[in-house]
Amino acid sequence: MELFDKLSQGEALIESAILVQINFGSNNRSQHSSGASSTQDEHEFKELVRSAGAITSTLITGSRASPDSRYFVGTGKADEIKTAVKQHDADVVIFDHSLSPAQERNLERLFECRVLDRTALILDIFAQRAQSHEGKLQVELAQLKHMSTRLVRGWTHLERQKGGIGMRGPGETQLETDRRLLSIRIKQINKRLDKVNKQREQGRQLRQKTEIPTVSLVGYTNAGKSTLFNKITGSGVYAADQLFATLDPTLRRVNLPDQQSIVLADTVGFIRDLPHDLVAAFRATLQETIEADLILHVIDSSDENRDFFREQVNNVIQELGAEDVQQVEVMNKIDLTEQEPHVEEGHNGLPARVWLSSLTGEGLEALSETIAAIFAKNTFRGKLRLHPALARLRAQLYEDEAVVSESISDKGEYLLDVVIQQRRFDTMLGKEELTLEQVQ
Ligand code: GTP
Repeated sequence: MELFDKLSQGEALIESAILVQINFGSNNRSQHSSGASSTQDEHEFKELVRSAGAITSTLITGSRASPDSRYFVGTGKADEIKTAVKQHDADVVIFDHSLSPAQERNLERLFECRVLDRTALILDIFAQRAQSHEGKLQVELAQLKHMSTRLVRGWTHLERQKGGIGMRGPGETQLETDRRLLSIRIKQINKRLDKVNKQREQGRQLRQKTEIPTVSLVGYTNAGKSTLFNKITGSGVYAADQLFATLDPTLRRVNLPDQQSIVLADTVGFIRDLPHDLVAAFRATLQETIEADLILHVIDSSDENRDFFREQVNNVIQELGAEDVQQVEVMNKIDLTEQEPHVEEGHNGLPARVWLSSLTGEGLEALSETIAAIFAKNTFRGKLRLHPALARLRAQLYEDEAVVSESISDKGEYLLDVVIQQRRFDTMLGKEELTLEQVQ
């Protein structure tokens, strides 16, 4: 089992890659279901490869009615790729599509170099980025599942190569692996993940008990979630011009104007055609999103494809079952556009869109106020008159930093000005078996 534990997390080898992207036409979206313009697909594909740490030698494109069962592309195209591999002395050929294990094997034999599909590419990036115990386990699980269908092949034709994209993580130990070990390992990881999930569940219950609302930052990868998270919380979460710089949800407590607190959660960036194993693996991680009281959907407003990205993210939100959670769109990166910071209201009179720049900070205050305003309708503000016997309630209100000011009446009662989340206040009163009338 030792071998599996030696997951190499991102020893960035610079490799030269030949990229392959085939357009199957509108009749075959399942092979490439993006719906984005081909330039956009191309750009994103190159970004993914760059994020994995490879250099694009050349991109080979083409179109076909449907994939070839043997080589995925036709023999003519396959020969063209083979020539390019020789010409550029490429280390790896990466397809922007899912390949069957057989296709991958056939192509590797033909090209005499490693072949990766889109799933393996994304898994590799995830393997490099995972930080937390849970994140690492989830990535490893997804990699093992992806690998288990590919174990039958002989890797002898590739023996001279070590490391690189798709070979990090458990891939590195593939030659020493057999199916039996693999299934034992998968079971073991599932068991550990169960345990981590239980701990996470406890944390969530604790938060629900203290009634602190959770606000989740979601968005397409590179939209600027971590930058915004850092600006709001003043913490140093890793933000980089790379896809999936943050993989694990990071939680921080934030104080808003009006004495309110929220828990802010940064989450993994979304992407089109996210491999299914990964969506499943990250369901637990994204639980924060499902159970959030508010979703801040961060959008790169300077990107011409922002509507496409918005739609992709909303699809994932729906897949996760979080479509009913209230959402505010954060139109980020206005410093790159002509926009001024401002707040747009939706039809229901609630704020729907905040235009800001996480980098320069303009518009950030409006965002805090917007969040505060959304939760304010659930806020109790007012004066309380507490009998001296209710010292415990008073202490509790102080503990929650809910007291704005205090004085003592002639009769020795505490006169308090409080601002507190309504739900929290109701719980406190309930515990003391009091009604609101009794404390006013
Ligand atoms: P993932 O981890 O891939 O999900 O990305 P993310 O959404 O967390 O994006 P991140 O915060 O890492 O930002 C991506 C890039 O956009 C970085 O280079 C940031 O510096 C840049 N960026 C973020 N916000 C702004 C902004 O308001 N203006 C400009 N000009 N750049 C920004």
